[in-house]
Amino acid sequence: MDFTYLRLNSDLKILVSGGAGFIGSNLCQALLANGNHVRCLDNFATGKKANIEPFLGLESFEFMEGDIRELEVCQQACSGMDFVLHQAALGSVPRSIKDPITSNEVNVNGFLNMLVASRDQQIRRFIYAASSSTYGDSKELPKVEEHIGKPLSPYAITKYVN
Ligand SMILES: NC(=O)c1ccc[n+]([C@@H]2O[C@H](COP(=O)([O-])OP(=O)(O)OC[C@H]3O[C@@H](n4cnc5c(N)ncnc54)[C@H](O)[C@@H]3O)[C@@H](O)[C@H]2O)c1
Repeated sequence: MDFTYLRLNSDLKILVSGGAGFIGSNLCQALLANGNHVRCLDNFATGKKANIEPFLGLESFEFMEGDIRELEVCQQACSGMDFVLHQAALGSVPRSIKDPITSNEVNVNGFLNMLVASRDQQIRRFIYAASSSTYGDSKELPKVEEHIGKPLSPYAITKYVN
């Protein structure tokens, strides 16, 4: 794969929360190829060990099994890192309708834990994965952040809160 589009300093230490998921594991791969030190935090709620298996033997890769609903876990995960790429969340609109409490705990409380830990551990930059679901029932095109409609699911609300 060609990762020449990455313009990140390779000295940076980067925490990828949700790094065993679809997007997170691809981010880990790209960052490792860029020469970065990568720490992945995941609890395998929806992620797979197979996604990170190729990186497990690398000196520049650390895996930490843990849950972002625990502040102490987030503090440990952020310790010594420069950037946080926050991907950990429970996706799926149907899941959030069936079990809104867990979606809220992970996507809202977990997000806040990661923000607080990033502040406490002096993370230089925090980047997170939002969602187009935030635009709700707005029909306006092109989508712009100033024009947000009514949210259509608990999942959308969690991403809007973030
Ligand atoms: N894939 C898409 O089309 C899409 C679109 C918009 C936004 N997003 C957002 O991008 C991010 C990544 O999405 P994805 O498609 O890779 O999903 P994914 O389910 O493959 O990855 C999410 C990862 O977060 C982990 N996780 C969940 N709860 C956790 C917890 N409590 N503690 C620690 N880790 C936890 C899961 O185990 C998983 O590995 C999510 O925040 C998602 O909401 C994805």
